[in-house]
Amino acid sequence: MKLIYEGKAKKIFEDGQDFQGQPTVIMEFKDSLTAFNAQKKGNFAQKGEINLQFSQKIFQLLSEKGISHHVVEVIDPTHVRVLKLQMLPVEVVVRNKTAGSLAKRLGYEEGVQLKKPLVEFYLKNDELQDPLLTEGQIETLEILTSSEMKQAQEVALRINQVLKDFFASVGVDLIDFKIELGKGPQGKLYLADEITPDSCRLWDQKTQEKLDKDVFRRDLGDVSEAYKKIARKIGIQI
Ligand code: ADP
Ligand code: TMP
Ligand code: ASP
Repeated sequence: MKLIYEGKAKKIFEDGQDFQGQPTVIMEFKDSLTAFNAQKKGNFAQKGEINLQFSQKIFQLLSEKGISHHVVEVIDPTHVRVLKLQMLPVEVVVRNKTAGSLAKRLGYEEGVQLKKPLVEFYLKNDELQDPLLTEGQIETLEILTSSEMKQAQEVALRINQVLKDFFASVGVDLIDFKIELGKGPQGKLYLADEITPDSCRLWDQKTQEKLDKDVFRRDLGDVSEAYKKIARKIGIQI
């Protein structure tokens, strides 16, 4: 398979196929993980498999709720066939409680309940360390069209509602998460990339234990065990 792109956690290969008239690519989930825009690097056995299964479970749940995503089929434990999309150049973050960069930037403690979910956009640019964007910048610099921005906000909030309820049902608090969206040939927006413990903050409701990539970012313990624990909680067999 011809490698088209290698990122921090995944590889993309040419597929030479299409699905219902739309070109597809193969996405590989690697065992690596990085933080602070790849300044910190790590890996653990089965990370790719765990994240693929995790993302697949979440995407399936979301498609049952009418949210369109890019996955066509799972090929093997670390590879999925997905629609080849034109990615929006942003990361969309939804926050339910303060944590991470929001807490740091504004001087908040982590874990403060927000009055309502907050949607933020970050420019996808590793060199610039994915800067936060204002809606004014997005509009004036034509980073997204106003329709793309509105659709992205709406879908992000719908996803948040489904995921918050789902994780609460297994005793886990969804603190925040990041999604990426891509456009198909007819301009339709799809949920793309992944939703995994790399891209969410997930805290055990009883113990407040972190079950996500913050364990690696902040050296809080065994990241492999944290990923396995959250995976098992949502019914994935490791
Ligand atoms: P990064 O590029 O940030 O290092 P990854 O290692 O996860 O991240 O690489 C996956 C890349 O594939 C990301 O840049 C993401 O935007 C892109 N991507 C995700 N889904 C699709 C898709 N359906 N079509 C095309 N590109 C995609
Ligand atoms: P932040 O608090 O660091 O801005 O992160 C918000 C959420 O987005 C958190 O769940 C982790 C996720 N995230 C990514 O998926 N990729 C990234 O590059 C960053 C910075 C955060
Ligand atoms: N995604 C970024 C990285 O891999 C930042 C992060 O998740 O902390 O470096």
